[in-house]
Amino acid sequence: MALRVALNQVLRRSKPQSIALRAFASTADVPKPAPVMDVPQRILMGPGPSNSHPRALAAMAMPMLGHMHPPFLKIMDEISDYLRYLFQTDSKYTCAISGSGHMAMEAAIANVLEPGEKILVGDNGIWGARVCDLADRYGLEVVALKKPAGETYSLAELEAAVKEHKPQGLFLCQGESSAGTMQQIEGVGAITKANDCFLIVDTVCTLGGVPFKADAWDVDVVYSGGQKALSAPPGASPFMMNERAMQKLQSRKTKVATYNCDLKLIGDYWGWYGGRSYHHTGPISNFYSLREALAITCEEGLEPLWARHQAMFELLWKGLGEIGLEPYVKDPKSRLPCVNTITVPEGVDGPALSAFAMQKYNLEIAGGLGPTVGKVWRIGVMGYNAHPMNVNLVVTAFKEGLEAQGYKK
Ligand code: GLV
Repeated sequence: MALRVALNQVLRRSKPQSIALRAFASTADVPKPAPVMDVPQRILMGPGPSNSHPRALAAMAMPMLGHMHPPFLKIMDEISDYLRYLFQTDSKYTCAISGSGHMAMEAAIANVLEPGEKILVGDNGIWGARVCDLADRYGLEVVALKKPAGETYSLAELEAAVKEHKPQGLFLCQGESSAGTMQQIEGVGAITKANDCFLIVDTVCTLGGVPFKADAWDVDVVYSGGQKALSAPPGASPFMMNERAMQKLQSRKTKVATYNCDLKLIGDYWGWYGGRSYHHTGPISNFYSLREALAITCEEGLEPLWARHQAMFELLWKGLGEIGLEPYVKDPKSRLPCVNTITVPEGVDGPALSAFAMQKYNLEIAGGLGPTVGKVWRIGVMGYNAHPMNVNLVVTAFKEGLEAQGYKK
C-alpha cells in the first residue's frame, strides 16, 4: 500500500511520456506544434506595450490563489487604493477591468449611457473612431466631432458643441496615440457638468505620464491601460467612475447589454457595494503584476513621474531636431509626451528605417496607425522605458538609419 502511494507520487511528478505503460503508435492527423517558444529580448519604444518593469513581470510568477480567496481580495483592494492615488479621486469606484484597454473602453461606453441617449465623441484619431463604433453597437446616438489627426479641441469648441448637440455623454481621448496629440481635459468637466452631460476620458497611454486629476477636473468616467506608462503587462486595465456616474448606472431603465463589462456585477466582485460576489475569475497573475507596477509607480510619486516623462520627451526632441526630424503635431501645446509622432521626410523609406532599428538594436520604432499610416513614425516614452538610455538609443538608431538611406537634413 505504502509502496503504491510512493509510486503514485513519483509518477505524478514525472513527465507524462516517461510513465506511459504502453507505447502508442502515433495516429494524429495533425502533427505536434514546435515545443519551444521564441521570445526575443526587445526594447519596445513604440506606442505600447512598453517594456514591463522587471518587478512587475516577476510578480506574475507568484503562487496562484483562488479568485475569491481573502489574500487575493486584499490584493484587489490594494489595486483600488493605488488607482485612487493615480486617478486623483476619492471615488469608491475604482478597479481594474479584466482585459485590455479596449475592454475598459467598452465598459466605459456600455454602462453609464442607455440606448437612445446621445454621445458626442472627439474623433481626431483612431480611438475616437473606435468609440463611435462601440457606442453605435450599444444603441447610442453618436455625434462624431471630427477633426483632422494632429489637431485637438479647444474648450470653446467643446462648449459650443455640447450646447449645440445637448449630449448625455462626451468622450475625449487624453492621449491620441495614433496622431501623437494630447487633449486638454482640465476645464472640460465644468462644461459637461453644467450641461447635464457625463465626461468620459481615455487615458490609456497617458495615466502616470502626464497630469490627470479626476475629481478636480470633474471627470465622471476614466479608464487606462497597464502596458504603457504604468509598466505592467497588458491584461488588467485601470478604471474609475464617480458617484454621479454610479447614480446614473443604478438608475438605468435598461439592463447593461454586456455581461462581461457590466459594472454593477464587476463592482460587486470588487467590493464596491459592501459584499463580494463572483462575477468572473479575475486574471490572478495579471492583477499581481498590476499591483506591483502600481506600487512602483506610486512609490516614485505623481509629480516626479510627470517630470521624468516631460524630461525624456524634451531629450527625444532635442536629439531628433539635431538630425533634422520634425514633429507631426504642429501646435507644441498639443504634442503628447508619451507617444510622439515624427514626420517621415520626403524620400525616406519609413518601414526600412524601422527594420534597420529592429535588426541592429532589437529596438522597436513603430509606424503610423489609422490616419497616420505611412506618414509618421511613433515613439513611446513611457514608464520603465522613459529613461535616457532608451531615448538616446532611439536617436542613434534614427541617425544611423537615415544615414544608411543617404538622407541629408
Ligand atoms: C496602441 O495603443 C497604439 O497606439 O498603437
